[in-house]
Amino acid sequence: MSRLVTILNGPNLNLLGKRQPQIYGHETLADVETECRKLAATLKLGLAFHQSNREYELIDWIHAAREVAGAIVINPGAFTHTSIAILDALNAFDGPVIEVHISNVHKREEFRRHSYVSLRADGVLAGFGTQGYGLALQRIARLLDAPSPR
Ligand code: DQA
Repeated sequence: MSRLVTILNGPNLNLLGKRQPQIYGHETLADVETECRKLAATLKLGLAFHQSNREYELIDWIHAAREVAGAIVINPGAFTHTSIAILDALNAFDGPVIEVHISNVHKREEFRRHSYVSLRADGVLAGFGTQGYGLALQRIARLLDAPSPR
């Protein structure tokens, strides 16, 4: 199985560090990418890291991952709560999928508690801040290394 991991970030995450820092913190998405690349190197994982405000671009990257990637980490932003199309695309991907939310979506508005993506995700991290991306990579390394990991 490929050790390339596709990390996808949905709408408004380009504003990470500037947008509602009391909820999402002060780190930028570029900082998150740098941290993920460092960790991926130690875990012997390759990384493709993307962000888009457009649903179709996220879907296209999921389709592309079918050909090249062993796993997907996705923070779909608000598309989490609305997008059956992203769920359908993820259902067409065979490897592990980890859903990440920087904030604890269960502690916020009621509408954030439902996730279409969780119907497909093998694991969900919410409320770990940007550290959640690294935790997701660690889990993926384990899933790719062991046939039936614990
Ligand atoms: C988010 C939570 C979503 O509800 C929100 O729309 C986001 C970010 C998070 O990372 O906490 O844009 O996915």
